[in-house]
Amino acid sequence: MAAAFRSPLLAPVLRGEQVTLRPATNDDVEAFVAFLGEPGVTRWWGENDTASVREQLAEAPSYAIVVDDAVVGWLQVHEEAEPQYPSVWFDIALASTVQGRGCGPEALRLAIRHQIERGHHRFSIDPAVDNERAIRAYAAVGFRPVGVLRAYEMLPDGGRRDGLLMDLLAEELR
Ligand SMILES: CC(C)(COP(=O)(O)OP(=O)(O)OC[C@H]1O[C@@H](n2cnc3c(N)ncnc32)[C@H](O)[C@@H]1OP(=O)(O)O)[C@@H](O)C(=O)NCCC(=O)NCCS
Repeated sequence: MAAAFRSPLLAPVLRGEQVTLRPATNDDVEAFVAFLGEPGVTRWWGENDTASVREQLAEAPSYAIVVDDAVVGWLQVHEEAEPQYPSVWFDIALASTVQGRGCGPEALRLAIRHQIERGHHRFSIDPAVDNERAIRAYAAVGFRPVGVLRAYEMLPDGGRRDGLLMDLLAEELR
């Protein structure tokens, strides 16, 4: 954990217009497993079950994304551990019920603002190159394409998929 950032990595609760972010707990695992199993999410996040979600939750500080009192998304917040290269990167998934209404960008904006308040200046995210909706959503927040991460992701059939590295500096947040 970068020594310069003394306030908590995850805020207790961050509230936006549609979206509330609160730190995820093991009580959220089944809700996460449910939407991660939707075809439109599995396509980009791969296969997950209760055990793999628990394992990831233990490793990645995470928010549960809450809309209309329901847990409908997972936002992982990864902080670079090397103090010379401070940055934060994200992984996000939303249930199909709330996709396409701006909840993803809103969740990212809330999380990025909190990290800017903590002193961070650089953020990144790495969607698959053909995840057009994700790329548009991240561009709306202010992320810019940096370049293609070739053969970045292993697929269940043994193939590999390219990723698009996108980054954003604090002053570029929209
Ligand atoms: C990617 C994701 C986080 C985006 O959040 P969202 O709240 O759905 O995003 P938005 O509602 O702001 O829509 C984003 C943009 O994609 C566009 N869009 C919607 N469906 C689309 C589609 N099938 N193909 C291309 N663009 C699409 C929207 O019009 C919008 O563009 P605009 O802002 O220029 O009008 C969310 O859809 C999601 O979790 N998807 C499933 C899992 C996933 O792909 N995770 C990301 C892995 S990196």
